[in-house]
Order: sequence, then structure tokens, then C-alpha cells
Amino acid sequence: MTDTPNTSRYAETIAAWQRDPEAFWAEAARGIDWVRPPDRIFDPSLGAYGQWFAGAELNTCYNALDRHVEAGRGEQNALIWDSPMTGRIEYYTYSALRDRTARVAGALAALGVQRGDRVVVYLPMIPEALITMLACARLGAIHSVVFGGFAAAELAKRIEDATPRVIVSASCGLEPGRVISYKPLLDAAIAFSAHKPQSTLILQRPQVTATLIAGRDHDFAEAEAAATPHAPVTVRATDPLYILYTSGTTGKPKGVVRDNGGHAVALHKTMSMLYGVQPGDVYWAASDVGWVVGHSYIVYAPLLAGCTTVMYEGKPVGTPDPGAFWRVCSQHGVRAMFTAPTALRAIRQQDPELLHYAKYDMSKLETQFLAGERCDPPTAIWAAEKMRIPVVDHYWQTETGWAITGNFKGLGLFPTKPGSGGRPSPGYDVQVLDDDGHVLPRGQAGNLSVRLPLPPGCAPTLWQNEEGFRTSYISDFPGWYRTGDAGTIDEDGDVWVMGRTDDIINVAGHRLSTGAMEEVLASHKDVAECAVVGAKDELKGQVPLGLVVLKNGVSRPHDEVVKELVALVRDRIGPVAAFREARVVLRLPKTRSGKILRGSIRRIADGEATVAPATIDDPAILDEIGVALAGRRG
Ligand code: COA
Ligand code: AMP
Repeated sequence: MTDTPNTSRYAETIAAWQRDPEAFWAEAARGIDWVRPPDRIFDPSLGAYGQWFAGAELNTCYNALDRHVEAGRGEQNALIWDSPMTGRIEYYTYSALRDRTARVAGALAALGVQRGDRVVVYLPMIPEALITMLACARLGAIHSVVFGGFAAAELAKRIEDATPRVIVSASCGLEPGRVISYKPLLDAAIAFSAHKPQSTLILQRPQVTATLIAGRDHDFAEAEAAATPHAPVTVRATDPLYILYTSGTTGKPKGVVRDNGGHAVALHKTMSMLYGVQPGDVYWAASDVGWVVGHSYIVYAPLLAGCTTVMYEGKPVGTPDPGAFWRVCSQHGVRAMFTAPTALRAIRQQDPELLHYAKYDMSKLETQFLAGERCDPPTAIWAAEKMRIPVVDHYWQTETGWAITGNFKGLGLFPTKPGSGGRPSPGYDVQVLDDDGHVLPRGQAGNLSVRLPLPPGCAPTLWQNEEGFRTSYISDFPGWYRTGDAGTIDEDGDVWVMGRTDDIINVAGHRLSTGAMEEVLASHKDVAECAVVGAKDELKGQVPLGLVVLKNGVSRPHDEVVKELVALVRDRIGPVAAFREARVVLRLPKTRSGKILRGSIRRIADGEATVAPATIDDPAILDEIGVALAGRRG
């Protein structure tokens, strides 16, 4: 535990929210400029669990850009794009960002995009990604950003589900040592998808020139230059702002919907309450716009709050060295920074004494925030010791859009416990439930759950799949949102997240479905059955590990089959799956009813003591798996 004195206003803030949640959120709503202010704060009769600010109207892009220009912040930097991948740094004032966004909105409108239409955004970490997202918000159109590390088939699934009118993409993304041409991936995805967009807008980067298909593909820069700036379109608070697909338990990703009003209110509130930053401060989330952290804390929240946001096209190490993060913080005067624990582990591997940190003036950086996966205590302790600032782990999900638990810089930090995700954010009544839905006493492990309603900013539904929302999250424990994580709450109220209760794994802070990988492995002509588990990895937290049983009569060398399986997952899901390891086994351990014992496989892979479950069909198989996995790396 750190020795921060406990002068936090956390307890009184939670008490104020508990006393009158609607008054708490009504007050927070004053941070947003409404076209029609909310008169009803929460309506329990709407949607799957009620809706926030129904009846109110606003425009999110106006709140992120125009209002700051009107209030005199036009010359302040809104965005700093720092790209060690290209050696460029670009600064955009609020005025400049508003002007470009209004033009890009005009370009999208010229392609027929209107309020409620979907726009798929498949862009690398360049300013145009943020500008396109805000341009969609300006039009009341719904963006769906797809992470660049996904393969064409995954992009196709998202195109098919969101049915976009337009897709915005670029000629390439840049990864260390390789340039990824996006256009062939995009063309393949459109070919796979039953839904075809009317048009695409393609940003030509200097590294690669994409071939454009006449009549369908348009040059981004030309379209922007020719466009008439578009004014913000008023939408309802409950209208969708975006869809962000995330891994579920099957190969079909879930389209998490975010609304406009609740999202703006909650995110604006978190910038001061949680991150402790004020208008004019520089804030940096070292994530990717393809993930929820990028949506919330690269794009929307810092701009809603009038801060300067940093967008970084680079890695924690190798671009050019493990001091890259500290160079960015020092050069731009970052006050609060957010990254994934895996990034700190990567830095620690290369710079265990954090010598690079001392090379820079780090006096502005006050707090290091971490999320995306549990931060292992050695990494949290190492970081706090070497950085000499508070290191705050906070726990959240794509579905919630902001922290379920954390430690609140703006309220004064309470003592942190390495390994814990902190205490519930005001707005979330977090409890641990047993499998029958009963609240468990402090200290007992079970299903981490949030009493309904979820606070503003959390997903109201899944895209065109309200039933899926109910069955995935709320029908198991009526009156509760089931996070899908297991955990405990200790006597002080600190929450300890222990891992998923489903088949989702977390690889380098990226959420992936083992079910989706199993579907790919099972499609290989030689595979009879398979299981994928998340095995421990020192750098990435977890990595996928596949076990396959080959069909009778297949006598090819196992290495050959494994190589094909690795290539297949990369080709169908993408490099981000980091699927590099598979073993051929004779049989998989199963229960007598035929369910594969993935938990036992994972424990064997991690070298943990494994007791055969009472339901196991043949305990001898566990020994066979032990032999097959002996000496695996990781
Ligand atoms: N476009 C295309 N490919 C991408 C990509 C993108 N946007 N992002 C990652 N990839 C590729 C990588 O190049 C790598 O490919 P390879 O198999 O050819 O090497 C593969 O996907 C796996 O990437 P990653 O898991 O990121 O591993 P890495 O070894 O390249 O880097 C870290 C390791 C720790 C540096 C990196 O994982 C990292 O920065 N993690 C932080 C994660 C994060 O910010 N998460 C957001 C949640 S807050
Ligand atoms: P994503 O939706 O990609 O943000 O992934 C959400 C999942 O990541 C959660 O359900 C957790 O399993 C895990 N997660 C995120 N942040 C944390 C954290 N701070 N501690 C523990 N697990 C986390």
C-alpha cells in the first residue's frame, strides 16, 4: 500500500451520489452545452434498463470543438499528433481542428451521409482518424472504428453488421519494420461482406499510394478541399454516437452502442473527478483509436473538457527506445497519462532502472493511469517507485466506456493497493454475486456485477440486438449488469479483479475471444477438435495457446499443421491475436457430458497444480496434456 495520506473526498462524493443519483448527474450535465437541456434525468421505462437524459438534445462535436472556440480557446492546442513512426509532430488548435472537422463532415455529407447513417472508420493513428470520428458526430452519423490490427475477415463482419453508407480508410498503417497496405485489406473485406458501402474516402499517406476504384473510392484530401463546412446537426441525447465492436464468447463480435448525451456528461465529468485535469491541461492516453480507451480518452473526453489531447503513432519501446513515453510527456507537458500495464512491462524489460525517465523533465506529469488488463503488483510497485508519482490502476470495459472502479485524482487519491483496481466510481454500485445472483459478503470471490441502472455513458444496448444485450449482460442476474469478470471486494471497499468468467482473454491489453480462434482452428481441414486458452505471458499478460486433435488418418508432420494454423488465425483474425503457439494432442480433457475442460488446460499451461475436477471423464488425459505442454515458453 502506498503512504498517500487519506484526505480524499471520495467517501463524501460517493455518499452524495448514493443519496441522490439523479441530482448528481443533473449537476454533471451542467458541464455540457445542450440545444435542449434535460428536464428528465433518468427514465427507467426506456430501453433495456432505462435511459439517461431522454428528451434532451445536443451535438457532441459542438461540445468537443466549437464551444471552446466560442469561449476563447480557439488558439489553444486541441490536438498534438506525435508520430515517431514518421518523424513528424503536428499541432492543431481548437479553431483549426473545428475547421477541418467541419470540412470533413461536409465531404461525408456530399457522399450522402446523414444523421443516423453508419460510417466505418478503418484508419491508423493519424489526425484524420480523430477528425473523421468527430465529423461523424457533427452530422449525427454513427461511426464504427475498426482497429488496424484486424484482418479483412474481421473488418468484413463489422461492415456487414453496421451496414455503413461510407467507409473511411487510408493507404497504409505503419508498424515497426513494416508498412501495412490497408487498401487491399479493405477491398477484400468489402468483397467478403454481403453489404457494400456506396463510397469510400481514402487518405493517401506518403508511404503507399492506394489504387482507387473509379465511382466508389474518393481521395480524402481532394474531397476535404472541395467540401463546404458543415454545421453541427442536433441529435437526441439517446441517439447513438458510435458502435464499437468487441469480442464476445463467439466469433461474432458484439456491437457496443454509445449514446450522445450520457456519454458527453460522464466523460466530461471524469476528466476532473478521475484524472484531475482542467481545461488547458495536456492529457495523453497512449492507446489506439480502435479501442474504447482511444474513443473515450484520445478523442472525446479530453476535447469535451477543453484539454489538449496527444495522439501517438508509435510504441512504448523501439520508437526509438524505451524512453519514448517520457520524451512525449516532457516535450508536450503532459499532466496525466494513461496506458496499459503491458506497455510498462515492455519498458521495464528494456530499462529496468528506468534510466530514460531521468533524462527528461518530468515535472508536469502528476499521475500515471493504467487499464485494459489487471496490473500485476510487481509492475505497479516498480512503476510507482521509479516514476515517483502515483500509479493508478482503474478497471473498465468497452461496454462501460469509462472506469467502473479507480482512484480519483480530482477528489484527492486514497491509498492505493497494488493489484487492486481501486474503489467503485461514483455512479456504479459494484457488488460480488454468487452464481445464483445473491450478494456475497466482503472478501468472497464471485461475479463482479453492477446494480442497474448503469450510469450515463455506459452502453444502453448492442447494435440492433437488444435481446443480445439482455442475454449477454442482464438476464442472468435480474436487476444487475454482469461484467463477465470474477473478483472480490475487500473490507476497505477496494475491488480486486481476478479474470474473466467467460472465454475472453486479454492479450497485451487487447480483448480477444478464444471462441473466435477455435472457430478458425476448427475450419482447418485436418483438425477434428480444438481448444484455445489464454496462457500466462510475462510481457503480454496472456497469449493464446491452441491444442488440436487431428482427424483420424492425418499423418502429416505436426509442425507443418501448426504452421498452417498460426497463419490461418493471422489471416482470419489478424496479427493482433498474437496466436503463435499450438500443440497437437491425442485427446482433449472433457467432462462426462463432453464439455472441454479449458480451465484445467490453462492451469497446466501456466504450471499451476491441477486437481482433476470431479466431473472429468478420464483423468489420465490431464497427464497427457502435461507432457504435451512440458517446457512451453512463457
Ligand atoms: N495495425 C496492424 N498491425 C498491428 C497493429 C495495428 N494497429 N497493432 C499491432 N499490430 C500487430 C503488431 O505489429 C504485431 O505483429 P507481428 O505479429 O507481425 O509482430 C501483432 O499485431 C501483435 O501486436 P502487439 O500485441 O501489440 O505486440 P507487439 O509485440 O507488437 O508489441 C507491446 C508489444 C507491449 C509494445 C504492445 O503490445 C503495446 O504497446 N501494447 C499496449 C496496448 C494498448 O495500448 N492497449 C490498449 C488498451 S488501453
Ligand atoms: P475491453 O472491453 O477491451 O476494455 O476489456 C475489458 C476487460 O479487460 C475487462 O472485462 C477486464 O477483464 C479487463 N480489464 C480492463 N481493465 C482492467 C483492470 N484495470 N484490471 C483488471 N482487468 C481489467
